[in-house]
This record gives sequence, structure tokens and C-alpha cells, in this order.
Amino acid sequence: MHYPLLRLRRMRKTAVIRDLVAETQVPVEKLIYPVFICDRTNARDEVSSMPGIFQLSIDNALIEIGQAMEAGVRAVMLFGIPDEKDQEGTSAWSESGIVQRATRRIKQQFGEDLLIITDTCLCEYMTHGHCGIVMQGQVLNDPSVEILARVAVSQAEAGADMVAPSDMMDGRVTWIRDGLDDAGFDDIPIMAYSAKYSSAFYGPFREAAESAPTFGDRKTYQMDPRMRRQAVEEVGQDLTEGADIVMVKPALAYLDIIREVREQVNTPIAAYSVSGEYSMVKAAAQQGWIDEQAVVLESLTAIRRAGADMIITYHAKEAAGWLKAAL
Ligand code: PBG
Repeated sequence: MHYPLLRLRRMRKTAVIRDLVAETQVPVEKLIYPVFICDRTNARDEVSSMPGIFQLSIDNALIEIGQAMEAGVRAVMLFGIPDEKDQEGTSAWSESGIVQRATRRIKQQFGEDLLIITDTCLCEYMTHGHCGIVMQGQVLNDPSVEILARVAVSQAEAGADMVAPSDMMDGRVTWIRDGLDDAGFDDIPIMAYSAKYSSAFYGPFREAAESAPTFGDRKTYQMDPRMRRQAVEEVGQDLTEGADIVMVKPALAYLDIIREVREQVNTPIAAYSVSGEYSMVKAAAQQGWIDEQAVVLESLTAIRRAGADMIITYHAKEAAGWLKAAL
């Protein structure tokens, strides 16, 4: 009697065997660390809904990024919190804008060892907090993409290695690609937030970036969580327009979308594990209800297993440290 012939437990017997057969890895070089940079001096102000995440002045951002790099992080995504907001998001494309100044300093300090990805959006720079130009209560598409192209070019001029439009206007990748090429930046890639859902998981980010809309919501431009097939359409559209990396966002509640996109395209996929995902883990960990390190590493593994190549995560610095310690 040879029953059962197949005993899957044989491959789980020791840590060495489990590592040998493991299908999924989370290499530190796949993590991207979001950093919030503000225009105040000497600031290191903790975001109350995101313990461990700070609004940083440029000097303190250099220190924070240096520490993250020490732990193994090699890519950051910069978000700016400007002093001045207006109806055109002027400070988003100004040469002296907060992201442009920060990018120059960070590039100067870390050079090619660090990849700088800049968030290309308008919401932080608009008095109304929407990701585009607003007229009569409507978020307009075509005038917004023109401005977004200007933002991308100004970020590339400041030294950004990659731009990441997060606005969800139709056609922005075309406009940004054209703008970059015309300005001589044909070698700067675009990471497009392609399947970006209108999600309540962005709540803490809006506190961190001071970018909550003052009226209405983002449902006329961000995707409806009930859509799956449309994610493939969005991704296809962005690829046609010249996106180099496509993104799915949020991550954990949208693993099916990551998998769906993985099966449809060969382009690198980024997954954004958003602020709400981070805050829930932090809150539960602070209560002593979960093992934070184990939960974070399991979540990152799940996002990779779903098919993401790279992960934007607020846990990046800490997780890099844990991954390093495990080696
Ligand atoms: C700006 C932007 C948002 C996020 C990234 N870029 C907020 C939004 O769309 O309201 C969310 C990130 C997060 O929650 O961590 N357009």
C-alpha cells in the first residue's frame, strides 16, 4: 500500500528545503520608498495617521533617504507638499518648486546609486485638491494633460530618473511622452498609474500630502472598484501611449487585478501598497494584535506572488532592514 504516493509535506520539512523550492522572493531592490517633502525648514513632522512616516524638509529627507539606502533601498518616489497652492498647480512645474529643489539636492548627493521617481500630479498643488484643472465644479481632462506634461518636463530637468503620473486623466501618457521627447528627455521612462482605483485606502496619504479634495471625490477620473476587465483596457491604453511600467493601485485588495494584468502584458508591473494598507498594519501592531514584521513580509510576498515586479511601500525602509537581517 503506497498511499499517499504524493506527500507535499516532504518539501516543507526544513527551512533549507522550503527555501529551495520557494516560488516567490521579495528582493530589496524591488522596493520603492515614498517620501513626502515639505517646504518648511528643519521639519520632521510625523503624519498622525501613518506612524513612522514624516513630512520632511529637504535636509531631513536626505538623512531619511540615506538611512533607507543603508538598509538596501535603491529607489524613492517623491511627493511634494508646497507652501503655495493655486488653481493651476503652478508650483508643480516651477523650477523652484519643492519637488524640483529636492530632486536636485537628492541627485547631487546620491547620484546613480539612487533612482528618483517623481509623482507627476496636481492635487497637492491645487487649492481644490483635485488632480486636474477644475471649471464649474468639473475636473477637465484636456487642459489638465497639458499641465501634467509641463510638470513631467520640469521634474526631468531637475534630475528625476523617472516620472510617475498618478492623475488618471485620459491621454496623459501621450502628452507627457511628447513633452519629454520635445525637451530632449527621450530616455526618461514613464511609470503610469494605469489601474488606479478610487479607493478609501488613500485616506492617510491625503493627510500626509495635504491633498484631500475640498469638494466632491475622485470618482470621475479614478477607476470604480467594481471593474476588473477595464483595468486591462486602462493598461492597454497606457501602453499604446508609451508607458514603460504600468501600475496597479492599491495592492492588497486588488491582487486579482495584478494577476489579471500580469497575464495580459509583458511590461513590468508596479504595485502600490497604499497608505491605508500601511496604517492598518501599524495600528494593529501598536495594539500588539499582530506580528508586524511577519505580516509585512507576508503581504509583500503576496503582492509579488500575484505578479508585481516592483512594490511601492511605506514599509520599504523597515522591510529592507528585516530582509537584510534575514540574509
Ligand atoms: C495623488 C496620489 C494619491 C496617492 C498617490 N498619488 C492620492 C489620491 O489619488 O487621492 C495615494 C497613495 C497612498 O494612499 O499611499 N494623485
